[in-house]
Amino acid sequence: MRRKMLCLALLGFALSLGARDKKMDAYVSRLMSKMTLSEKIGQLNLLPGGDVTTGAAMNNELGTLIAQGQLGAVLNTVGRDKIQAMQKIAVEQSRLGIPLLVGLDVIHGYQTIYPIPLAQSCSWDVEGIEAGARIAAEEATSDGINWTFSPMVDIALDPRWGRIAEGSGEDPYLGSLIAQAMVRGYQGDFSSRHDILACLKHYALYGAVEAGRDYNTVDMSHLRMYNQYFPPYKAAVEAGVGSVMTSFNLVDGQHATANRWLLRDVLRQQWGFQDFTVTDYGSIGEMTSHGFGDLKHNSELAINAGTDMDMCATGFQQHLETLVKEGKVSKKTIDEACRRILEAKYKLGLFDEPYRHCNMSDDEQAAHLFTDAHRKAARDFTAETFVLLKNEGQILPLKKSARIALIGPNGDTTDGLLGTWVVARPKSNSYPSLRQAIEEAVKGQGEVYFAQGCNIAPYGRMREAGTSWYIPVVDAEKAHREAMAAAAKADVIVCAMGEGADYSGESHSRVTLDMPETQMALLRDLATLGKPIVLLNFAGRPTTMAWEKEHIPAIMNVWFGGTEMAPALCDVLFGDKVPSGHLTTTLPQHAGQVPLYYNHLNTGRPTNDYEPTFRLYSSNYFEVSNGPAWPFGFGLSYTTFEYGTMNVEQNGRTLKASVTVKNTGDYDATEVVQCYIRDIACRYSRPVKELKGFERVTLRKGESKTVTITLTQESLSFYDENGKLIFEPGEFDIMMGSNSRDVQQKRVTVM
Ligand code: BGC
Repeated sequence: MRRKMLCLALLGFALSLGARDKKMDAYVSRLMSKMTLSEKIGQLNLLPGGDVTTGAAMNNELGTLIAQGQLGAVLNTVGRDKIQAMQKIAVEQSRLGIPLLVGLDVIHGYQTIYPIPLAQSCSWDVEGIEAGARIAAEEATSDGINWTFSPMVDIALDPRWGRIAEGSGEDPYLGSLIAQAMVRGYQGDFSSRHDILACLKHYALYGAVEAGRDYNTVDMSHLRMYNQYFPPYKAAVEAGVGSVMTSFNLVDGQHATANRWLLRDVLRQQWGFQDFTVTDYGSIGEMTSHGFGDLKHNSELAINAGTDMDMCATGFQQHLETLVKEGKVSKKTIDEACRRILEAKYKLGLFDEPYRHCNMSDDEQAAHLFTDAHRKAARDFTAETFVLLKNEGQILPLKKSARIALIGPNGDTTDGLLGTWVVARPKSNSYPSLRQAIEEAVKGQGEVYFAQGCNIAPYGRMREAGTSWYIPVVDAEKAHREAMAAAAKADVIVCAMGEGADYSGESHSRVTLDMPETQMALLRDLATLGKPIVLLNFAGRPTTMAWEKEHIPAIMNVWFGGTEMAPALCDVLFGDKVPSGHLTTTLPQHAGQVPLYYNHLNTGRPTNDYEPTFRLYSSNYFEVSNGPAWPFGFGLSYTTFEYGTMNVEQNGRTLKASVTVKNTGDYDATEVVQCYIRDIACRYSRPVKELKGFERVTLRKGESKTVTITLTQESLSFYDENGKLIFEPGEFDIMMGSNSRDVQQKRVTVM
């Protein structure tokens, strides 16, 4: 049903675009007939916006470029008035008055900050994610932004890579659904002033950088690209994403920004993308270090390969005109790139109303920014992103009448809750820290004793003090004493520990995944008190928790949850809401296992993932078994769910896998029922498991429901190395369960 509605919506969207296309074509053709070559090239340049209102030297230069029609777009300017000033120069002082695209990384919210995308994916709530993107679009477009550099849909298997925080985890199927939801949420149908142009990134394979080190190289088979890494990009293109950002890395030894196969053959010919492409920040310049040549040569390579806009390298600005004169770049290529960018401006309604995103009055604007309604939606959604990993002795939920010791570096921070990419963050005191939220929640009933307890982490090479930007540096011995004293008075200890909000994101790679030793030492001491302990594990990536898993009775991964994280966490901690998040990345036992992901290929000498002893001449390690600490798809609840026997009905190549799930515990709650397949024998080796469907099902206490997942021929197919979808008849295992490990399985033959 949902699928049918989606198809109808997409069809309607396509039809309305079709009608508009003709008008758009005529408009853009007329405009382009008046443009000089230099003005056309001007549209292909994207530079940092800065602030033309201050009149500082650099900004005057920017103003001049805009007035001369030499700039098509700006990025990284925050604030309606500054943006309006730039737009005014473009519209009123440039010869043809072409408005600017105004871009920003609105990645998980503008002012109402949502959880980091990795956390969002753990909700498996695709509609909730779409609604969050919609809120981000409404807020950003009320403050002058008309283009967001999101969604980031890079599949990432290596938690050392800090940008794993920005994506939707390791699964191409779930990642594709989320990519489409975000595009829908951002762009709508381009009919409202709050529809924002989305930018799919980073095309392609950026999530596969070697050793998890940012900006590093990538090398991969085409078979793997098509099956494991490309699906979310392709899905976003199918949902109509209006721009695509190239990645920093190589693909087949060529830079993604100058890769004709990637940009023309796959993106445009195979997937039908018709809009514009933009480089990542300075990529054309970086091609020199990769060893491709100088800026001029790289500009030639990039535009000829299919890159339309140069973000901040100024290669197009400096060299394209000469390259055209020298016959190295054709006028047709410039025309095509320019047309696509003008079309994006047309779709956004900028030619009719150039100030539509930057002309609200203060009052009008206030009705769209960080509103109560947005914050309420964020709070409800954020509660769905926490993943309960362990809850021995039902320590959670807590009683509001309890005496609670809240301990740890993340316990009383506000900025530190937001996560990576919060360019337009609201004021730190406009939303609560966890300490404030818990104090509010237990007011008149319980007690809260807060102590930071330790410094967040001494990562030697990270900033001078080796601490987070957001967490104060404290006297370690004194802090430790205070924490032990607070814990001694309490009935329960809640630890707000783990990573700092700035340990993940761009250029934030790690080699260890453990909790920093400063915090571990404190946690170990707290555990000796023999009191119930809850670990709230703050993380921007999958982290390792070997000691914690063994010794701490209750563990919940809470990621970084944005402005409403603290109240949302209280909702869950005190049982007003029940956790329902499920992992979208595998949590390894040890960093030495990475990359570790559920949908891997088999070896010729497999061992059981949980085999306790080492086996010589099998594929395994000395120290730990192959399996994860917690598998993909895992997540506990305060209630219990009982799964009936799975049934698979077959009708030709369509399968209906169903299972009855009963809520057998004491709370109304939501479960994520998952369906996996395995292609048993095939011309290519296929993964041991692949997610092909899921349903979030909400059940009252005692209620049961049958969940049916329909698998089509497409679900059972895979891509060959040329991107052709292939179905091979034969045997398949169909699996259903509550995570990728605990599944029931039936073998079927599909001819
Ligand atoms: C990042 C992109 C981002 C761009 C603009 C780059 O460094 O890789 O994800 O959109 O900067 O801020």
